[in-house]
Amino acid sequence: MRARRRNPFTPTFGHEPFAFAGREELIDDVIEGLANQPGDPNRATIFIGPRGSGKTVLLSIIAEEASEMGWVNAHATAHDGMLKLLMENLLENAEHLLPAKSTSDITSIQIGPLGLSREMYHETPSWQFRFGAVVKELNQKGIGVLFTIDEVDPACEELIEFISFYQMLVIQKRDVAMLLAGLPSKVSSLLIEDHVSFIRRAFQRRLRSIPDADIRDAILTTIEENGKEIEEDALDSAVEASQGFPYAMQLVGFGAWKYAGESACITSEHVEKGISRAAQEMEHSVILPTLRECSPREVEYLITMASQDGPCVTSDIARKMGISMTNASNIRRRLIDRGIIIDLKMGLVDYDMPIIKTYLRDHPAEWL
Ligand SMILES: Nc1ncnc2c1ncn2[C@@H]1O[C@H](COP(=O)(O)OP(=O)(O)O)[C@@H](O)[C@H]1O
Ligand SMILES: [Mg+2]
Repeated sequence: MRARRRNPFTPTFGHEPFAFAGREELIDDVIEGLANQPGDPNRATIFIGPRGSGKTVLLSIIAEEASEMGWVNAHATAHDGMLKLLMENLLENAEHLLPAKSTSDITSIQIGPLGLSREMYHETPSWQFRFGAVVKELNQKGIGVLFTIDEVDPACEELIEFISFYQMLVIQKRDVAMLLAGLPSKVSSLLIEDHVSFIRRAFQRRLRSIPDADIRDAILTTIEENGKEIEEDALDSAVEASQGFPYAMQLVGFGAWKYAGESACITSEHVEKGISRAAQEMEHSVILPTLRECSPREVEYLITMASQDGPCVTSDIARKMGISMTNASNIRRRLIDRGIIIDLKMGLVDYDMPIIKTYLRDHPAEWL
């Protein structure tokens, strides 16, 4: 009997996949920005996308590439205590580059005019001072520092303070970069915060659907390089069911592999079973949490859009819903902020999360 092979698909949030699909442009732009001078605008980028679109993994892939280029990464998630974790991570990642007793270890500083010496002034320096010292020390050795902050949250004061501090580093022309990642609604609330006007000028990059061809390559590579095969039709169905959404791709692949059991070839039957299992998981961890954040009117707008193929004319939606254009455009704006739909200009909108469109088509009654 053949040994059961380990499932190579990774439907776990934050888990780096076996084969990373698409996103080349997003990665290349940042990497180019790091290779360029400190003034490159790609050095302050915000990645925006719904749960499961691949933000966390994208940050780690970029951080890995950056460290291959000699950069040091400091990573944290935006919540209370993030500054401490960010500093610890920076020191850990830079450990081999900093002398045992470096400026960053300073626990006392000299106050010139008062004549206090280093020894006499024993107050712990601010976190800004400590970060500034480590960055300066690394920069003097020709090493850049890449800050990556995940799960952006406008309610996180330490994040807001860090963004202001980062701006200071930019003004000082330090060799630094900062990548933020977050859900569309969190990022849009962050961008309206008064004290972080600096971040409004950062590049905002949406994690849109990945082209089918890239999803196809990634599924096929994951399967073949792990010792199984997949029938052509089965692969077509797996790609179609993934709808360009990374988490769905991992779920479908995981299910298909599982149902193939010890068989060396994944068939359509295995994929179909995988798809129905994936649908339940997608519903629970991506679709429902996203829809539950929407008001009843917003859901109604989405259902009206879902009943039609392709992009929708905004005035038609307003008419079908029996509401004024002003009302409809307020709802549309909120849905765009949530990252569920996109404005195609010329009075047209379309789904940015086709996975939600399909779901609402199948379950309209539950939501109306
Ligand atoms: N580009 C990609 N190609 C293939 N799988 C991906 C890709 N990006 C993310 N994934 C997978 O998708 C899932 C969600 O990724 P994650 O980065 O946690 O999303 P987010 O942070 O946006 O919620 C994980 O299972 C991960 O392995
Ligand atoms: Mg994440």
